[in-house]
Amino acid sequence: MDKTYYVTTPIYYVNDQPHIGTAYTTVVADALARYHRLKEEPVFFLTGTDEHGQHVARAAEKAGVSPQEWADRMVVHFTDVWKSLNISNDFFIRTTSPQHTEVAQKFIQTLYDNGDIYKDTYEGWYCVPDESFWLPSQLLDGKCPQCGREVEMLQEDNYFFRLSDYGERVLKHIEDNPHFVQPEIRRNEVTSFIKQGLTDQSISRKTLTWGIPLPFDDSQVMYVWFDALLNYISAIDYGIDDVRFRSIWPANCHLIGKEILRFHAIIWPAMLMAADLPLPYQVFAHGWLTVEGEKMSKSTGNVISPYELIDEYGVDAYRYYFLREFSFGYDGNFSRENMTGRYNAELANALGNLVSRVTAMVERYRGGTVPQPKEDTEPDILLKKSASAVFGE
Ligand code: ME8
Ligand code: MG
Repeated sequence: MDKTYYVTTPIYYVNDQPHIGTAYTTVVADALARYHRLKEEPVFFLTGTDEHGQHVARAAEKAGVSPQEWADRMVVHFTDVWKSLNISNDFFIRTTSPQHTEVAQKFIQTLYDNGDIYKDTYEGWYCVPDESFWLPSQLLDGKCPQCGREVEMLQEDNYFFRLSDYGERVLKHIEDNPHFVQPEIRRNEVTSFIKQGLTDQSISRKTLTWGIPLPFDDSQVMYVWFDALLNYISAIDYGIDDVRFRSIWPANCHLIGKEILRFHAIIWPAMLMAADLPLPYQVFAHGWLTVEGEKMSKSTGNVISPYELIDEYGVDAYRYYFLREFSFGYDGNFSRENMTGRYNAELANALGNLVSRVTAMVERYRGGTVPQPKEDTEPDILLKKSASAVFGE
């Protein structure tokens, strides 16, 4: 049997509603999945939601509901918007599902039994919105180097994953396999980060209760990123149905935004190595979209919901625009003027006129019926030949 083409999006945090940024990755993944289905390959396209962690717990607290109630309420916004965008995902994973919890616990127990996990004191900074640990030397002007927001001091007894033991192997894998981290500019970022030396990764939280309990110490919960990365294997029955798992894993492409590359290109491969599992073929980190030249943010109030644009332009024009406008991999800017321009020039004028002329000619010269094809002439034969060769390439 052909190995299944397996493509994933990040699982999105449920602290907030989906917007055109989260929809960007999902639409691209959908196009890729549809392309491989057209080639008649078996395809598995996964998306879902990341429901644990401090940021989600705080959003729930602010709303005055339990984190689970909050997640149950928020997840609907994601499943609904993907329906409206014609997203053809084969499964939707939630990290609060019983199967995900079971797989994550089994996985972390394996690493614990192998001696890859030990207990120590963590003292350092934490960015809650990014759910990231930072060393003092990594901060930028005392703020999160990733997102520029305030960080909080953390001091707790945590469990650590021996990430530093895997730095060399991960680096070698990245250097030996240029396809593994793409685009190239991102690969260079990752390799120079590893070369500075990796520190072990805290993978549990003691002062937080909203998470998956550690099977070997139920006074702590799993660090949300450790839990989240495992969605890629829990969704396809790792440790539950080995035959199915092996027919889908390794993933062909993890599509992500550039801000979460280190988790996917360093920590995730190290976790897989520790569990003796094959690595994904590729992690592709695309750029960030701004809106009218500015970073999208709740505080600026410029977050755009996909529904706004679907209502205005229609779903196919939406999908077309985001795939057409942005050079894949790079940052890009969304503007209404630009979207309207492409809509008019490319869809209405170019494509619309073509369709309108063809149908008008069928009407006028062929009595409104598309004629049956005749036997192939020489040019038809040549065209078919080169078209099928191109398809293979
Ligand atoms: O990071 N432009 O979830 P998240 C382009 N739960 N893409 C954007 C974007 C923008 N302005 N804003 C968001 C998390 N994205 C974790 C992931 S995976 C095991 C766990 C997209 O809700 C992009 O794909 O913050 C980015 O990586 C993702 O949304 C972040 O979503
Ligand atoms: Mg984020």
